[in-house]
Amino acid sequence: MNRDNLELRKFVAPEFIIGADARLLAGRYAKNFSSQHVLVVTDPNIARNSWFSDVTGSLGDAGIASTIFSSVTPNPRDTEVMEGANIYAEAACDAIVAIGGGSAIDCAKGIGIVSSNGKHISDYEGVDRITVPSPPLICIPTTAGTGAEVSQFAIINNTDRNVKITIISKKIVPDIALIDPLPLTTLTPELTAHTGMDALTHSVEAYVSNASSPVTDIHAIESIRLIQSSLLSAYRTPKNIELRYQTMLGSLCAGLAFSNASLGAVHAMAHSLGGFSDLPHGECNALLLEHVMAFNFPACPGRYEAIGQALGTDLSALGHTEKKEKIIDGIRTLRETLGITDSLGNLGVTREDIPTLAQNALRDPCMATNPRQPSQKDIERIYEEAL
Ligand SMILES: [Fe+2]
Repeated sequence: MNRDNLELRKFVAPEFIIGADARLLAGRYAKNFSSQHVLVVTDPNIARNSWFSDVTGSLGDAGIASTIFSSVTPNPRDTEVMEGANIYAEAACDAIVAIGGGSAIDCAKGIGIVSSNGKHISDYEGVDRITVPSPPLICIPTTAGTGAEVSQFAIINNTDRNVKITIISKKIVPDIALIDPLPLTTLTPELTAHTGMDALTHSVEAYVSNASSPVTDIHAIESIRLIQSSLLSAYRTPKNIELRYQTMLGSLCAGLAFSNASLGAVHAMAHSLGGFSDLPHGECNALLLEHVMAFNFPACPGRYEAIGQALGTDLSALGHTEKKEKIIDGIRTLRETLGITDSLGNLGVTREDIPTLAQNALRDPCMATNPRQPSQKDIERIYEEAL
């Protein structure tokens, strides 16, 4: 027997509840954690929605006080984490509720780390650097993309170095995720497209990761099927809550896959772009995915073929090169149909930026699990292709 198939792999997942109105359980769960005062971490756009008040209302109904910290920006910054941690301490909070996309959830994870461990958030960069567990964290995702509600990852922008730092630790896996499709019905088409392509990138990268396992594979492939069958329709009919539920399920499965199998070059390169010029994370992934797939393809063609099949691509009677082209064409067509048609150049990235971007991408922990190890020149070439 080939012992490669018997390699030890672990799978970490938090408790989660998925379904209509799951967000209304925030109060009950905060009470289960014996909380008396929670810090609600969100962004200003989220805080304007009526479904946001439902969450703070459920906390109030459970007799729990709340302080709202809504200064989180896309690509959350270290300064926001430190400010949030100060507010957490000043208000004597004992738990955190994050409501939002990946930015709010990652910022909340950062606030939890600093509140329990005391130092600057940048001191926890890397894998397993956190010693003290964070306070209870309840996550309510409002996009179908991030996966942060179930992951052991947090990505924070270091504003001194203009790079995104990646923090990976079992100690930042949320205590409970309340996954409710209703907030998605108010998500703009642009954010639906960006976050949906982020989720698809999570599953593709987790599936070809050299840390994948049979359990992450099941979640990754199912996630690709779910996103393929629901994302475009949800983009076109934003109020359809059943379609939104399907995209959320796809994003959840992608999150479970990547939290355990890690990611690859697309995310390493997107993190580098996000730190350097504050570009939307999902859009960066969408613009890079097809180029990284072309680079990685020779390392694991069978895996990409399975991805193609999950995307519904008919690959029968095709040769190796034709299969590769058809799978990548499918990804490009989906991206363009979702209205993501800019290039990195249109978004302000210049040829002169590329060497620094490539250097930072090579240092990102996500690069370690890419199925093909690229050189600095390889990464520069991929950025140029997307320029
Ligand atoms: Fe992502």
